Amino acid sequence: MPDLAGPRSLRHLLDAVMSIGADLDLPAMLRRIVEAAADLVDAKYAALGVLNEAGTGLAQFLTVGLDDETHRAIGDLPEGHGILGLLIVDPKPIRLPDLHEHPDSFGFPPNHPPMSSFLGVPIVLRDQVYGNLYLTEKTTAEVFSDVDEQLVVALASAAAVAIDNARLHARVQELNLLEDRERIARDLHDTVIQRLFATGLSLQGTLRLAQSPEVVQRIESAVEDLDVTVRHIRTAIFGLEASRSTVDEGVRSHLLAITREAARTLGYEPEVLFAGPVDAEVSDQVGDDLLATLREALSNVARHARASSVEVEVRVEAGEVVLRVADDGVGPPPSDAARGNGLPNMERRAALHGGGITLRPGAAGGSVLEWRVPCRAATPSAATT
Ligand SMILES: Nc1ncnc2c1ncn2[C@@H]1O[C@H](COP(=O)(O)OP(=O)(O)OP(=O)(O)O)[C@@H](O)[C@H]1O
Ligand SMILES: [Mg+2]
Repeated sequence: MPDLAGPRSLRHLLDAVMSIGADLDLPAMLRRIVEAAADLVDAKYAALGVLNEAGTGLAQFLTVGLDDETHRAIGDLPEGHGILGLLIVDPKPIRLPDLHEHPDSFGFPPNHPPMSSFLGVPIVLRDQVYGNLYLTEKTTAEVFSDVDEQLVVALASAAAVAIDNARLHARVQELNLLEDRERIARDLHDTVIQRLFATGLSLQGTLRLAQSPEVVQRIESAVEDLDVTVRHIRTAIFGLEASRSTVDEGVRSHLLAITREAARTLGYEPEVLFAGPVDAEVSDQVGDDLLATLREALSNVARHARASSVEVEVRVEAGEVVLRVADDGVGPPPSDAARGNGLPNMERRAALHGGGITLRPGAAGGSVLEWRVPCRAATPSAATT
């Protein structure tokens, strides 16, 4: 068993591990870990890459030893080909006297500083690979030693715990936020809207007492304002409710719940069709906005279309998800008709993810609303309006 307990090694290792408990954010913790690693094993360069949660690319990449200028000159982050990729698919430490001699070596991009001795270890916890920690160019020897490897393995497991912790923490925060959203939506509906209604009614009651036409007109416009406010709040509630919807179950089951709920106002059951891997492909953010759009679309059919049937289709194809709501009612309004909040909101929810909507006449009459966006959102949803 190599001696890990040299005073310098031990102190550095402890420092790095203790930093996990300290009140540091994840990047600061990881930076401490990668710096400690470089220092402990006398490496000129060190890097730590964290995979994103889907495991499809790097979410974070930290380096030690490269100045900003070199960083810029090298350009893009490593993509995880070659040896770095190997650490992910076959998560075992790798030690090499010369990086270039490994059969999986991909070579370096132009302007990359020369590096030969190499020590790379995966960042793993409970069989899950979170990324890798690797060091190059040992300054005090030709190759990295057994002791170096053990130290770096210890630091990598510290990094794994730190990442796991941070992700867990984020999930808990999200749950709290969702509970808050649920409560706010309920309060808005049960308290705020009811009060506004009551105020509107009592204002209308005072109308018959009003003598002057000016007062009558002011009361009427206050009542209209209240109406508009209630509509805005309703729209916000849609947003709040839809945001919690996709977290625990898939889009499909939420979508079916919404159509069942809408059947009560419509007076008939919407027909529902799915095509393609809807649950697997539609991200939570896109799913939230899709469901909010469906609620509004069905509410529009109930309020404006005078239809006797409606068909809801969700189709995933070629990286896109398409929501289609087709009714057999009076057809879309003329293009110069007054617009409410609903259609612009749907449009915004599509644009957020790089998509769009259309509302056009159906082939056999009625209206067809089509909401189309890429399955995976680039940006998080700003679902409230
Ligand atoms: N399925 C439909 N069939 C017929 N007309 C529709 C349909 N969907 C929307 N419209 C028309 O488009 C208009 C704009 O819809 P939008 O949802 O933006 O506003 P709204 O429903 O009137 O008000 P809000 O959604 O703000 O409560 C509606 O007033 C209605 O005239
Ligand atoms: Mg509407």
